[in-house]
Amino acid sequence: MERITKTDDRVHRPAGPWTPTVHRLLAHLHEQGFVAAPAPIALGDALETVSFVPGVAGEYPWTEDVASEAALVTSARLLRQFHDAAASFPLDDSVDVWSQAARVPVETVVHGDFAPYNVVYDGIAAVGVIDFDTAHPGPRVWDVASAVYRFAPFTTGADEGRPVPAFEDRITRAAEFCRAYGLDDRSRGMLVETITAGLVALVTTLETEAAAGNPKFVSDLAHGHADLYRADVAWLEEHGDRITAALR
Ligand SMILES: Nc1ncnc2c1ncn2[C@@H]1O[C@H](COP(=O)(O)OP(=O)(O)OP(=O)(O)O)[C@@H](O)[C@H]1O
Ligand SMILES: [Mg+2]
Repeated sequence: MERITKTDDRVHRPAGPWTPTVHRLLAHLHEQGFVAAPAPIALGDALETVSFVPGVAGEYPWTEDVASEAALVTSARLLRQFHDAAASFPLDDSVDVWSQAARVPVETVVHGDFAPYNVVYDGIAAVGVIDFDTAHPGPRVWDVASAVYRFAPFTTGADEGRPVPAFEDRITRAAEFCRAYGLDDRSRGMLVETITAGLVALVTTLETEAAAGNPKFVSDLAHGHADLYRADVAWLEEHGDRITAALR
């Protein structure tokens, strides 16, 4: 965590080529009244400074509060509010730089890693969303799918130290997330295949970045993350029909 430091009510994080664009996105969110995201404060060559979002990030292992139904529902509502606010961001290909390629159909700017560890909680209530490094233009379902994967969860290695809920409970949580978000029927029908597409993209990024020597991804690869995502793709292929049926 020494890459990320906190002083008073500010957070200093490594900046990338996409950070100027992300700061414009964060400013836009605040202009729209979505203040659950960090406010952009400063941008240097190597570091960015944003406001600290008060609360506790939902890191693993989940607390009872983060594992609660209320946390799930309020997280889904927060994602919806974020997407609604980001949808009016004035995209401009001639100046925007994102860390990920845009996904069609572009409906809004998606977060790219909307998971409990990037959501900030006040008790059982989701009150903030952080870490916009992977934001990029895309369809709402892209975020909802990866969020459901992390929140249900539909991953075998999601939460070290805490028993994974029973399959039926995880399906119920997936449906609950979609309901709280207000996801349309068409998107529900393609949710499982979108989770899979997201995992395949994640494996590609992981292996490409690790091969290029990016330390974070070298470490993730060494910790078996790519193998886990591949195993989860296989698991989703086996159980996808049951999940999709429950989402209708
Ligand atoms: N703006 C913020 N407000 C509140 N807490 C923050 C903020 N930015 C970062 N943090 C804290 O720092 C942690 C890591 O930050 P962040 O998620 O932005 O970076 P990261 O590169 O994804 O790191 P990690 O891989 O550990 O999640 C968060 O889990 C949270 O506890
Ligand atoms: Mg994070």
